[in-house]
Amino acid sequence: MSVAAIPTLEDLEARLGSLAGKRILVRTDFNVPQECDGDTSRITDDFRIRAALPTIEWLQERGATVVTASHLGRPRGTANTKFSMDPVRARLAELAPGVEVLENLRFDAGEEANDPAFTANLVRGIDAYVNDAFGASHRAHASIVGPPSHVPSAMGRLLQREVEVLTALRTNPKRPFVAVLGGAKVSDKLGVIDALLDTVDALAIGGAMCFTFFAALGHPIGDSLFEPDQVDTCRRLLDTVTKPIHLPSDITGLDANGRYATYRTRLPDGAKGLDIGPGSAAAFGDVVMEARTVFWNGPMGMFEDDRFAAGTKTVAQAVADTKAFTVVGGGDSAAALAAFGLDDDVDHVSTGGGASLELLEHGDLPGLAALRGDQA
Ligand code: 3PG
Ligand code: MG
Repeated sequence: MSVAAIPTLEDLEARLGSLAGKRILVRTDFNVPQECDGDTSRITDDFRIRAALPTIEWLQERGATVVTASHLGRPRGTANTKFSMDPVRARLAELAPGVEVLENLRFDAGEEANDPAFTANLVRGIDAYVNDAFGASHRAHASIVGPPSHVPSAMGRLLQREVEVLTALRTNPKRPFVAVLGGAKVSDKLGVIDALLDTVDALAIGGAMCFTFFAALGHPIGDSLFEPDQVDTCRRLLDTVTKPIHLPSDITGLDANGRYATYRTRLPDGAKGLDIGPGSAAAFGDVVMEARTVFWNGPMGMFEDDRFAAGTKTVAQAVADTKAFTVVGGGDSAAALAAFGLDDDVDHVSTGGGASLELLEHGDLPGLAALRGDQA
């Protein structure tokens, strides 16, 4: 997949002659984290809203009327005030006045079902469509794959940068290229692990998913989280892999009595691993410092609890400090970086968690195929 085959904003302007007075539907990913207080919600991180501003401002500067459309949360086809776009609309009005913000697309079941009638409704009165919702472009939903067959379409600035950066990781990374993966579930990451093993020089694996690998190696893991149905797959992977996979050499967590404890790789009955240990964190940090390209996705432990934040913080600090080209996958790792105040010190923080992994795995996304005019 080549990003060159996807129309840019400049291509769209050339195609329409002028954007002045045009109504442009911009699919954004305004699925922002919120705190709920009864029926009202408050945005806790506006990164995804700020990330859409370059596209919105570029269109407004050319005299276009911008109408944004996004999902928020998973209301599953029914209206729910908890997932209303009101807080997003209010924040966007401060950052970029004059934008129309449609109500949550997922209040209608037609969005996720990719219902043609829903798409037809969405593009009514619209002159052009811009997809800037990188974080949702792995979903073949109506607002992502539908509009390009109805109106002239393009990718926004954010989508373009995401695709350029992540595609370059697949095709020509500066070496050594190291990926650090964490998070709870190895089942979510096996596809991307397989794909990354084709291009990386080494992989480091932390987070709760390391316990499925420990189980595959026959290490006792106590009461740690793991996925029994993935143990065989992890064993096969470890048996056949030709690149170094770094697993933790120590673990911190809670013992059977709920007391903070550090273990080597064998956890006794009742113990629960909740972070990589200090030795592993230092080793992972060294791997990162020696690389020239780093991709990091997924926290090393339960960093929301200060006692188990050290592993994630050490890795985040190394990712911030290294001179390597650094890319951080969205979601929890981006939140961790922001929590440690390090988000300005990496080259690219992706706005998409699932989307960045799927793009790395498959080299393409439904939303990109639609913009290229490929049949979904
Ligand atoms: C995300 O937050 O990962 C994207 O906005 C997609 O949301 P979804 O996982 O609910 O489809
Ligand atoms: Mg997600």
